[in-house]
Amino acid sequence: MIREIKVQDLDTEKFINEKVKEIKDTVGEGMAINALSGGVDSSTVTMLGHRALGDKLRTVFIENGLMRQGEPEEVVAFFRDLGVKVEVIDAKDVFFAELKGVTDPEEKREAIRDAFYKKVFGKIVKESNAKFLLQGTILTDVDETVAGIKRQHNVFEQLGIDPEKTFGYRILEPMIQLRKDGVRMVGKALGLPSALFDRIPFPGPALAARVIGEATTERIEMARKATAVVEKWLKNSGAFQYMGILHEDRVTGMRDGKRDFGQQIEVRCWDSVDARTATPTRLSFDLLEKLAAEIISEVPGIVSVTYNIATKPPSTIEAV
Ligand code: XMP
Repeated sequence: MIREIKVQDLDTEKFINEKVKEIKDTVGEGMAINALSGGVDSSTVTMLGHRALGDKLRTVFIENGLMRQGEPEEVVAFFRDLGVKVEVIDAKDVFFAELKGVTDPEEKREAIRDAFYKKVFGKIVKESNAKFLLQGTILTDVDETVAGIKRQHNVFEQLGIDPEKTFGYRILEPMIQLRKDGVRMVGKALGLPSALFDRIPFPGPALAARVIGEATTERIEMARKATAVVEKWLKNSGAFQYMGILHEDRVTGMRDGKRDFGQQIEVRCWDSVDARTATPTRLSFDLLEKLAAEIISEVPGIVSVTYNIATKPPSTIEAV
């Protein structure tokens, strides 16, 4: 049973000092490795690990081709400014090969997980001789996995998998007693800029969760452009999360006086506290019109833009 540390009981300095000591003592003279995605959890654990281990922690960013516009460069630059070197591993081809022809949402998630663990990161860990893998697992990941809601890619022990036996390395999970709000506090105390610890949530399967149907490079690029426009217009909306989703069905439109059997982007913007339930944000029609106009001009082939007005449940936040 993992003992939860609630935010009202969290003394960030004490927590950081304890975890730094634990990581140092456990790793000793050895090497550790971790994968940084730029999300709150992996960013915070990267800072914690570097405070404990310095150069004995190797941090890699796996470029899976599914991240948002400019994201890999931005994340690396943020950490460079914080004095942390991040190695970028270009694995775009591996991920797109794994996603080829896959249209079912769960199969897509599995393809991404397999590409990450079996084909890319697993290999890097083995070749690195690192004996420890540092992971940003949080209590919510464990809960959701145990409850069978969402099998989180970073949860092993609770599924009866012994990583030392299965993969040959031990996993360190210094944040497993925290939830998201606690992680944000620790991240802030470790000096992360608010652009990192206060980001809107972004799913593990990345833009593949925003493309209905096959996630090809071209279709991911369309979702990437749409998401960039949506994030630009809605960043001050105060909403919990917002995104652009590329649909699979084509719709008739017209362009340059001719019929254009084009594609469709659905905009979603959610008010929510914990992502378990959500309601669509009451955005102004003016704002929605500006958004639509920019999506149509920025994303080639789009002839229709819609705004989702259903609640979660029965909808979910992401469309895949
Ligand atoms: P849903 O779409 O299930 O999303 O309503 C709830 C929250 O979780 C994020 N999300 C994911 N995060 N792996 C993740 O790490 C996933 O497969 C995944 N699917 C959704 C979503 O962005 C939202 O914040």
